[in-house]
Amino acid sequence: MCGIVGYIGNKEAYPILINGLKRLEYRGYDSAGVALLNGNINVYKRKGKVSDLEDYTKSQNTDGTIGIGHTRWATHGEPNDINAHPHRSMDGKFVLIHNGIIENYGKLKKSLEEAGYEFTSDTDTEVLANLIAYIYKEGDMSVEMAVRLALKKVIGAYGLVVFSTEEPDKLIAARKGSPLVIGVGKGEYFLASDATPIVEHTNSVIYLNDDDLAIIKKDQMVLKTIFDEKQEPVVEELDLDIGEIDKNGFPHFMLKEIFEQPRSILDTFRGRVAKDNSEIVLGGLYRVIDDLVQAKRILIVACGTSWHAGQVGEYMIEDLARIPVEVEYGSEFRYRNPVITKDDFVIAISQSGETADTLAAIRMAKEAGARVLGICNVVGSSIPRETDAGVYTHAGPEIGVASTKAFTAQVTVLAMIAMVLGNKRGELSTDDYNELIHDLTEVPAKIEKILQQNEEIKAIAEIYKEATNAIYLGRGYLFPVALEGALKLKEISYIHAEGYPAAEMKHGPIALIDENMPVIVIATKDKSYDKIVSNIQEVKARNGKVIAVVTEGDDTIRNMADHVMEVPESTEMLSALTTVVPLQLLSYHIAVMRGCNVDQPRNLAKSVTVE
Ligand code: F6R
Repeated sequence: MCGIVGYIGNKEAYPILINGLKRLEYRGYDSAGVALLNGNINVYKRKGKVSDLEDYTKSQNTDGTIGIGHTRWATHGEPNDINAHPHRSMDGKFVLIHNGIIENYGKLKKSLEEAGYEFTSDTDTEVLANLIAYIYKEGDMSVEMAVRLALKKVIGAYGLVVFSTEEPDKLIAARKGSPLVIGVGKGEYFLASDATPIVEHTNSVIYLNDDDLAIIKKDQMVLKTIFDEKQEPVVEELDLDIGEIDKNGFPHFMLKEIFEQPRSILDTFRGRVAKDNSEIVLGGLYRVIDDLVQAKRILIVACGTSWHAGQVGEYMIEDLARIPVEVEYGSEFRYRNPVITKDDFVIAISQSGETADTLAAIRMAKEAGARVLGICNVVGSSIPRETDAGVYTHAGPEIGVASTKAFTAQVTVLAMIAMVLGNKRGELSTDDYNELIHDLTEVPAKIEKILQQNEEIKAIAEIYKEATNAIYLGRGYLFPVALEGALKLKEISYIHAEGYPAAEMKHGPIALIDENMPVIVIATKDKSYDKIVSNIQEVKARNGKVIAVVTEGDDTIRNMADHVMEVPESTEMLSALTTVVPLQLLSYHIAVMRGCNVDQPRNLAKSVTVE
């Protein structure tokens, strides 16, 4: 949600900032802007994409070796040129970019207005820029101190970078709730909301913690807290390959990421599965494994696609380990006064590791005495830093806003956890454990095979691209896949779609079925097969159009359905990993054919750092 970049050094800042904004555009894309310090401060901002900003700046002076840039996902104020960041204080001395929400901005704005300040935008960020300017003007103090004092008055979340004509040799960055990473170069520093714009310049990074404040000159950085306590910066080595953040010849990141799944799943279990498939070792569980094995109940908290992965996890853990599991939306959990005890174990799932509601749920669970395990993709993000233990998914950077490879990597981790728990609790025999591990290692090859049907799936997409509604049906492990399939379709193609447990159809949704309703049924050969065949017949009896995901060679459903997408036979417990892939491809092709921006769907942002 909003992307921040900054540069200070000897190079021209503008190309570094623009390139960085393009890398971060997936975080927010309704407007963008840069500010460059070159004697004066030049601020350029535009509604729209980073490319619109780039066109606009072609005729402008973009010189300067210090600068900041921002790509926005609107919270306060509609997306337009004025509300775009950076924001400048009324006296012109301070310029600020900000990710997050200043909750008490109304009150602060009112006091500043009473003090004679005027505002041009509707944003909370402009309020903060003027608050810093006001505090600076009132006292005899450094820019750093003015920023610190202003931040003490702020309630809310921020990742921000500010600079000033008063001390034109430094950038000041601060974090509370919204991520910020500093790249350490030779005689230069880079700043960004995540490491993707930094990796092409340096591998050495510092992740800021909440309440950290960094004062950065081109050849020196001082780290403190906003309470003026000195901090020791921890420089970490980035494990990120530049190739992972390029499209590598694919037309969209989403398609690239769908095609990466054989590798991303492999990367997720590689090194954790013994060569002879005899056991799974999850280093991240080491500190909490006893609590997890003895947990009376597991609560899974997550949002969106990660919540769907959590649902698959519930079925897996209950199946294999016989521990009761509840899956909660982070947003519901945090506000509904749930019962949490010390005997509960919480698993938080998040691709970005920054989702505000999931983070808040974690904090609540910890306060109630529960232990918390994180399953995250982005290394160094907030959730892994706040949980007692964690297992990274190793899916690599997911740039497409619609989650694909992160989902299958999350399900892979949950499968491994379920197997380990099942075995340790004596619910899963060693033979079954070994067989399941073997089945997991075969998943990447199965997905390779599914991906070969890309052209056939595209042909099905061509037929349904004008649909206005769609229903997705599945049972058991395939019910969360139905939910995920529907979410993929609606978020990137803007076609209304709903997922249901197939048996629920008769309790209402069946009324929607007519010759215009595509019904996507996930109907692989498992213990509910006969039941779902009956559900398909019920849809066909009402002239619905059936697109079925079936096990290879299933002629029964092939003869009944309008179209089939085949997946290789799979253990029921792992079937979500394969069956979701054709649904991802179907949504992708439909969205492309409808002219939608699949990597940056309207109104969405990759990491939702506001509640
Ligand atoms: C959908 C999607 C979102 C995210 C949700 C949670 O394709 O990407 O629904 O799954 O915003 O995000 P994370 O996993 O980063 O916590």
